[in-house]
Amino acid sequence: MCGIIGYTGTEDVKEVLLNALELLEYRGYDSAGIAVKEDAQTKIYKCAGRVKDLRLICESEKFLSGCGIGHTRWATHGGVTGTNAHPHRVGNVTLVHNGIIENYRELAAHYELEEQLKSETDSEVVAALLNRYYEGQPNETIKEVVTKLKGTYALVILFDDQPGVIYSVRNVSPIVATICDEGAMLASDLTALCRFTNRYFVVPENYILKLEKTKLTLTDFAGREVEPEFLTVDWELNSAGKNGYPFYMEKEIMEQPDAITRTIESRITGGLPDFSAEGIPDSLFTDCERITIVACGTAMHAGLVAQALVKSILHMHIEVEMASEFMYSDPVIDKKTLVIAVSQSGETIDTLEALKYAKRRGAKCLSIINVKGSSIARESDYVLYTDAGPEIAVASTKAYTTQLAVFYLLVAKMAFSRGIFGTEDTQSFVRELQRTPDAIKKVLEKRREIHVLAGRVLDAKDLFMIGRGLDHSILLEGSLKLKEVSYIHSEAYASGELKHGPIALITQNTPVVAAVTQEKLMAKEISNIKEVKSRGADVVVFIKGAIAESLQGEYPSFVLPDMRDEYMVMPASVALQLLAYYVSSDKGFDVDKPRNLAKVVTVE
Ligand code: F6R
Repeated sequence: MCGIIGYTGTEDVKEVLLNALELLEYRGYDSAGIAVKEDAQTKIYKCAGRVKDLRLICESEKFLSGCGIGHTRWATHGGVTGTNAHPHRVGNVTLVHNGIIENYRELAAHYELEEQLKSETDSEVVAALLNRYYEGQPNETIKEVVTKLKGTYALVILFDDQPGVIYSVRNVSPIVATICDEGAMLASDLTALCRFTNRYFVVPENYILKLEKTKLTLTDFAGREVEPEFLTVDWELNSAGKNGYPFYMEKEIMEQPDAITRTIESRITGGLPDFSAEGIPDSLFTDCERITIVACGTAMHAGLVAQALVKSILHMHIEVEMASEFMYSDPVIDKKTLVIAVSQSGETIDTLEALKYAKRRGAKCLSIINVKGSSIARESDYVLYTDAGPEIAVASTKAYTTQLAVFYLLVAKMAFSRGIFGTEDTQSFVRELQRTPDAIKKVLEKRREIHVLAGRVLDAKDLFMIGRGLDHSILLEGSLKLKEVSYIHSEAYASGELKHGPIALITQNTPVVAAVTQEKLMAKEISNIKEVKSRGADVVVFIKGAIAESLQGEYPSFVLPDMRDEYMVMPASVALQLLAYYVSSDKGFDVDKPRNLAKVVTVE
């Protein structure tokens, strides 16, 4: 988690660092800090709180040098205090760290570092150890120290006697870097760099990166220089901005029609799904006997929709596994299993570990990822990138619908290559996918109606969401969205399960959000709505246009544009995202940075 920036160049270093930290704040936002090198002096400013608080602390500071490092923290070891905030400085060494050093206590005791430590963090122990070994040879010292570390780390280091120079080394936790007209820079992810350039490279594990104003050098532990492998990202240079929206979440919800179009159109040839650009052979889809999807949170919910499609269209055995539970659940995985990892960031440690485990068991691994070159993408046999652009709001929106879009293409491709769909069936299925951006636009145009409905649940403490089949899958996601941004306790139930217990929770005025988008399930879903209504629930319904009349105007409702049943997920999910968004913004919360959360979860 944690956001990291390092910059050495010709721009105003304070502004570069603070602006980058604002963009990286979504990775963790309980404290923030920067260190700027001025000749042989290193000045540190840090505090518990947000980057805006840090800005106030260094408002009047002017720096002559153009070299510094910065950090936004998501606390793991040690509480949220100014002392525990990064950067940490011991002797001649200043550093920021992302990850967890598992043996920090043993190291502190073994090397008798305790007296030098001011914070409760694992990170400061690394600074102390580097300082202990430093004798003017940065690369040698870094190599010596990291061989003693157990755990995950992205370290960015300043040595007092190395003006204008930044060092970095990493294991698991990501670091990307670049060089451009304004200088050399590195960060924990691309969002902080894409304001400057579209070219970057992922720092390989166990290599030492040295940044100077006009030069960057990558060296392996044997001291050999290697050429970085630059990638190009097609994100626009200002795509990580808010574009006039009050929150990234709203901006990202509004971007979904374009994001889906970008994700699918380059992968359709003659009306059929085409993954030749990704080099994916048809045999990947014809040789497998079972599918396992591994993912976390919202990405896992995208997997649940895919599961329903795979069952109903491909009639294949499929499981969706919480990545964090996967390895410990004795999963049935073999050479005939196609494992699909889904992740926006491509860095979620649980998903990464699940994928590595599946590979060890001989499975073929395909991943659906938003961030190019990320760790999960690099571990996978094949990658299908979603083209959502940077997703900054902690609550995932456009990543989810673009993941769904890729799944629809995948299912169509599998159905075609396994002979389940003929050409016409496949083309008609794909044509419907191509209609989803317009259907979503219709929801966005009517978003004020959802804002009004949000008023009905604004003061709720507990809320229930009910639906069957695919409706249940999307309500699980709608419920997660509402929970995380509005702090309302929300549970999604398969409505047929209600009578087996949960209906005991329905009392006078309990808010219930129902989804009715599946024509074949409509009659049963409506009777379940009546059951909760007759126990006093205040029901709000999201219903497909073609069947909206069946409600006879009895419930406040939002009418969704018509699509084939299996595609109703798309407009309905966007409507539920808007519901969560309006509840959160009307309550005056910081929608983009819900408490306790971080965008990228790189600790298990
Ligand atoms: C919820 C949310 C999280 C992520 C989850 C996985 O809105 O964003 O549940 O979906 O942490 O993250 P990625 O997709 O980066 O692996």
